[in-house]
Amino acid sequence: MKVLVVGSGGREHALIWKINQSEKVSKIYAAPGNPGIAKLAECVNIQALAIEDLANFANKEKIDLTVVGPESPLIAGITDEFEKRGLRIFGPNKKAAALEGSKAFAKELMHRYKVPTADYQIFSDFEKASQYVKNCPFSFVIKADGEAAGKGAIIPKDKEEAISILQNMMIEKIFGPSGEKVVIEQKLEGEEISLLAFTDGETVLPMIPSQDHKRVFDYNQGPNTGGMGAYAPVPFINAEMVERMKREILVPVIKGLKGEGIKYKGVIYAGLILTKDGPKVLEFNCRFGDPETQAILPLLQTDLVDLLLATLEERLNEINFFWYEGFCVCVVLASKGYPGKYKKGKVIKGMEEAEKEALLFHAGTSFLSTPAAYCSLPTVVTGGGRVLGVTALGDTLKEARDKTYQAVAKIQFEGMHYRRDIGEKYE
Ligand code: GLY
Repeated sequence: MKVLVVGSGGREHALIWKINQSEKVSKIYAAPGNPGIAKLAECVNIQALAIEDLANFANKEKIDLTVVGPESPLIAGITDEFEKRGLRIFGPNKKAAALEGSKAFAKELMHRYKVPTADYQIFSDFEKASQYVKNCPFSFVIKADGEAAGKGAIIPKDKEEAISILQNMMIEKIFGPSGEKVVIEQKLEGEEISLLAFTDGETVLPMIPSQDHKRVFDYNQGPNTGGMGAYAPVPFINAEMVERMKREILVPVIKGLKGEGIKYKGVIYAGLILTKDGPKVLEFNCRFGDPETQAILPLLQTDLVDLLLATLEERLNEINFFWYEGFCVCVVLASKGYPGKYKKGKVIKGMEEAEKEALLFHAGTSFLSTPAAYCSLPTVVTGGGRVLGVTALGDTLKEARDKTYQAVAKIQFEGMHYRRDIGEKYE
């Protein structure tokens, strides 16, 4: 089989690393990929949002399966375009991807199917939204309805700041049309976890739970990022709790969508919070999480390609799903300044040494020379905010953490920053 993976981050590198282990696969392409991915796949210079070009490429190269990493192409309808052309693609179609693409759509769906989530109101009018926050008796989160590069959910310090956030989103349009509508929801208290599942629109197969670390500094200080590290599985979530989350959250959503004529096929990612009243939904994503995928896939025993195909062929009920025992920890090495402004082009040293002890999933890396020189192994430099995911396994969470941080110690680049507490709380 020829497989094309769309995207260029640590998640896509982890997906390709796992897909490469399948005996069914003869060739992997990545669009656009990155220097780490280039060791396993042929990188083609097509961006993830160039849907026409990707479909033309898949057609020309007779790609058997395309796997989409990031949400943007899914929300923009890449699956619909590929399916229209008879090309096989993994990821929900545009209507289903609205679960991530519109916070208001997701909240209303949850409300209709009694899926536990925070109380909320939706506003398209700035004056009405401002009035609401002025009188709101509880702490709340303001969320831009549409895509906002992971920056669209903000917890205001006080009501004054809340009005200024609304002003920025709804009037100044800092997120473009994504912020014209907002969801204001009650801020919940509890531990946050990520539960990802494969679904073919009927069967829902949860993966092992994982925990992301979103703030940039240790002990959850500083601004939110795309994720500074993750581990799996989560020791305080037992099989019974996963079953409850599936029963109360994932199944009603997938069934509800189906009842409304939307078949959701792909990975559904539930961002959950464990409140004193039980698990509640913070958000849904329509794709594999990043960095969660980097901590989950190394523990997956089942052939990933079998899972992807069974999802598309609606045969997930036939799948035997196996996981290795133990734990996996992924620590993200980031550029100085991330998630704000940062410099690129810093030479990364020590990767070969680190790779003797751990998996290195490349995220924001690039070659010092042009992409055309992919084969000649030129120097690898930083090319993004999140640069590398260093990942190791262990029989215990502590062992996995120790091995990961030993490998982290081998790597250097100017301004390298990482959290030292990934998975520490529960080791
Ligand atoms: N780790 C957060 C996300 O994938 O959206």
